[in-house]
Amino acid sequence: MLSVFHAEEPMKRKGAPGKEERPSLTAKPPVPSLGEPFRWRSESDEPTPAHLSPVDDRLSADAALKRVRRGEYLLYTGDFHNAKQLLGAMGRRLSRPAGTGSLLEAFRAERRARQLEHETLSRIVVALDRDYRLGLSRAPDVAQACRQVWGEPELTTTVVPLKQLLGMLGAAEWRRKGLAVPGLKGLLQPHYGVYLPTRTDYAELLLPLPQVKGKRVFDVGTGAGVLSFLLLQSGATSVVATDCDARAVACARENAERLGLANRFKVVETDLFPEGKADLVVSNPPWIPEPPKNRVDRAVFDEDNLFLRRFLEGLTAHLEPGGEGLLILSNLAVLLGLRPAGWLDEQLERCGLTVKWTRSTQARHSKARDRLDPLHAARSREVTTLYCLEADPKRRLSAA
Ligand SMILES: C[S@@+](CC[C@H](N)C(=O)[O-])C[C@H]1O[C@@H](n2cnc3c(N)ncnc32)[C@H](O)[C@@H]1O
Repeated sequence: MLSVFHAEEPMKRKGAPGKEERPSLTAKPPVPSLGEPFRWRSESDEPTPAHLSPVDDRLSADAALKRVRRGEYLLYTGDFHNAKQLLGAMGRRLSRPAGTGSLLEAFRAERRARQLEHETLSRIVVALDRDYRLGLSRAPDVAQACRQVWGEPELTTTVVPLKQLLGMLGAAEWRRKGLAVPGLKGLLQPHYGVYLPTRTDYAELLLPLPQVKGKRVFDVGTGAGVLSFLLLQSGATSVVATDCDARAVACARENAERLGLANRFKVVETDLFPEGKADLVVSNPPWIPEPPKNRVDRAVFDEDNLFLRRFLEGLTAHLEPGGEGLLILSNLAVLLGLRPAGWLDEQLERCGLTVKWTRSTQARHSKARDRLDPLHAARSREVTTLYCLEADPKRRLSAA
């Protein structure tokens, strides 16, 4: 392998016990702070690359693909816009799933293809100096986007997949502009890596919700906090929200402050429910029962319906007498064959819950209308439902 930069094997390096071992760049690329240890930043938990091979604008997409498929990490040192074009050209050369077989096979094939694309393109990496400056010609200022995601720079060079850095720049732009959510007074400022409510049809299901007035609410898996804020603005007295992801917790807290709701909103980083009971417990859980492949996936993928099953099992214990659970769930998993049609009813029965009422909405996002999408047959029939749940009165009586 042509490897000008190489990272020392952490095992072989000497260092103070307990101190994090970091590999170093051992030759001088045209980026700042070389010859010093570098910090590898990857959302997908790929291990620190042992070698970084410098490349520049002379590299063709075909040659880049050949090299990354051989396992190389290519450190781009040329022009920023050329680097972006290289990623695009590499992406276009990757094969797409043929769209044959069942919907479930098509869904899994599409996920595999996306994962492969992610892994392949993530091997084009760039270096940032100790002030998060990107040493490529025509590079934008990326420092603020990096600070927002990683905090203050460490005293080393940072190496990051270019694809990820572009995602961080896009998120910083969303955060700067703010996102309008129908029904929400004020803009939401999404953060990188936090579930972004761009498909707002599900949030609209909560409006209007007269019974929320004067209620104490729990929001389980709050993400950016959108459901909490809608309910607070509709008259809920207070919300205690949870999320298992620290980034979501920080994002929801910051948005509550900006929207002037912080005095009635508390968010905690925890698994599922907060402690205690509430009058209303709302949740829009991850809705696809397949294994998550990375940190961001945990907002959408719920292996073995673990979140959903535990939410339903724990709901009654977190409801005040006469309280209600508000569960938002799409039928996409059923349409794909990932969840049997009667599964939810069985779980409700098992957990002693009954449905008081439902409200549904047909998916309106662009994918639902894309006839060329191999999953069109499922996505075009996707319906998201708000289930209002209560503890089965018969069970309540027998438990009393
Ligand atoms: C589909 S997103 C919904 C976010 C937000 N409620 C909304 O409607 O926009 C699901 C959220 O659940 C969170 N989550 C996943 N597993 C969790 C768990 N075990 N405990 C708490 N939160 C969890 C994810 O981090 C994500 O923010």
